[in-house]
Amino acid sequence: MINHLAIIVDGNGRWAKNRGLSRSEGHKAGAQRLDEIISYLSEKKLVNYLSLYVFSTENFERPKEEVNYLMQLFMNWFKKVQKIYKDKNIKILFSGDKTLLNKQIVNATEELETKTKNNDGLVVNFCLSYGSRREIVAATKKIINDQVSPEDIDESLFSHYLYQDLPDIDFLIRTSGEMRLSNFMLWQASYAELYFPQTLFPDFTVAELNKAIEEYKSRDRRFGKVK
Ligand code: IPE
Ligand code: IPE
Ligand code: MG
Repeated sequence: MINHLAIIVDGNGRWAKNRGLSRSEGHKAGAQRLDEIISYLSEKKLVNYLSLYVFSTENFERPKEEVNYLMQLFMNWFKKVQKIYKDKNIKILFSGDKTLLNKQIVNATEELETKTKNNDGLVVNFCLSYGSRREIVAATKKIINDQVSPEDIDESLFSHYLYQDLPDIDFLIRTSGEMRLSNFMLWQASYAELYFPQTLFPDFTVAELNKAIEEYKSRDRRFGKVK
């Protein structure tokens, strides 16, 4: 059983380009795939936590139309799934810098968090407007503001000050063949098993996901010890 699975959603743009479609079409197809994966993992109870990297702080540097399209897509999606996820017992969390987002999307995310906060099934952590270094700096500032004394600071206290207090990532998948973290959960992924399929995210089916999970099962996690 994987406790915490993370997916860096990548390759929507290339998927669209290969088909002569706009990047927006790629993002739309990616969102559908993501919805399918969330429902599948929740139904089959394959993981307890799922973190999804869907928009980085660096992604704000993309053309305005693409950023606007993505924000609209997220907003419509968050509104659409409110009731569905509530009924499916899925609990939604968000990680990211809300000050960079507009009011409507912040409202939509908060509404979704509130509506699903009493659910105790799959926890889905959306990393939106997310950057790991920014998160670590923000946590440090909060610790200083709370006047925590240095002797009380340990790894568990530090985790508590991050956007969400989540268990370590066990398995991290990045689609599209890129082999980098791009500022994603550097703290939480420190001992994660990494997996980089060539598949572009809109083609990342449930069958591909199961293949990845099988690969995870064959990994030997030693955590520095001799086994
Ligand atoms: C991932 O797909 C989605 C986001 C980062 C929002 P990309 O948009 O990065 O797709 P490629 O990498 O250009 O193919
Ligand atoms: C990383 O993907 C961010 C997300 C998946 C949300 P990018 O496609 O933006 O990353 P780079 O630019 O290839 O590193
Ligand atoms: Mg990309």
